[in-house]
Amino acid sequence: MEDWSAQQYLKFEDERTRPPRDLLAQVPLQQPKLVVDIGCGPGNSTELLAERYPEAEIVGLDSSPDMLNKARERLSKCEFVQADIATWTPAPHTDLLFANAVMQWLPDHTGILRRLLEALPKGGVLAVQMPDNTREPALVFQREVGEEGPWANDPEIKDAARDDLPPPEVYYDLLKSTCSRIDIWHSVYNHVMASPQAITEWFKGSSLQPFLSPLDAKAREMFLAAYTKKIVGAYKPRFDGKVLLRFPRLFIVAVR
Ligand SMILES: C[S@@+](CC[C@H](N)C(=O)[O-])C[C@H]1O[C@@H](n2cnc3c(N)ncnc32)[C@H](O)[C@@H]1O
Repeated sequence: MEDWSAQQYLKFEDERTRPPRDLLAQVPLQQPKLVVDIGCGPGNSTELLAERYPEAEIVGLDSSPDMLNKARERLSKCEFVQADIATWTPAPHTDLLFANAVMQWLPDHTGILRRLLEALPKGGVLAVQMPDNTREPALVFQREVGEEGPWANDPEIKDAARDDLPPPEVYYDLLKSTCSRIDIWHSVYNHVMASPQAITEWFKGSSLQPFLSPLDAKAREMFLAAYTKKIVGAYKPRFDGKVLLRFPRLFIVAVR
């Protein structure tokens, strides 16, 4: 997959930063010393951590150079490192691992969550938020367009859709034996979008990326036109022309 685009992601910064704010509100730590924001992106979630824990050492970790550049420009006092979460191990004295909107991208994310939790000291917290929206029309249409166009046999496109998240019970059984306390919940957001086309713009910064990155410029345009046509048919304007993007998300806060 091509590098993530910080600029595209930040077009909806306010909406994208609401879930990490809600996640952080449930983290039961008062004075952590070392906090790591894994999949920190352009630093929007890292900034929340730095504001809540001004005395802590805050580290942002991401695999994308573009995201890390943006994050460094934004937060000069935090340290940012390039690493792949799949193979990275936290320092043994880490108090908080914060993972907002990233774990859903990793193959075998359940195994990685357990490994990360096991690496924390007693009292350490793993806080996770993942979109649980693969059955929403906006995501179903991505799969449909991927299967319908001239790109249908491209192996990268065939592999571009995310799997459904497992149900909360799976995370409970996986993590509870390793922690003293676990809190798992869903929230459904209804993001107000300026138009149906804005939904396409939103997903160009996230789940459309794996579909678009294997395509050349002309095929990308075709893909986006076919996708937007389906979006326009399904997401109807409200009385003021705006549309609501329904967006279910899964949250987990596990205390070691
Ligand atoms: C949707 S953004 C989340 C950004 C930010 N945490 C937030 O709350 O909005 C996901 C980020 O995860 C990063 N990412 C994806 N897979 C990764 C991996 N295996 N290791 C490290 N970072 C990864 C991407 O580069 C991207 O910046």
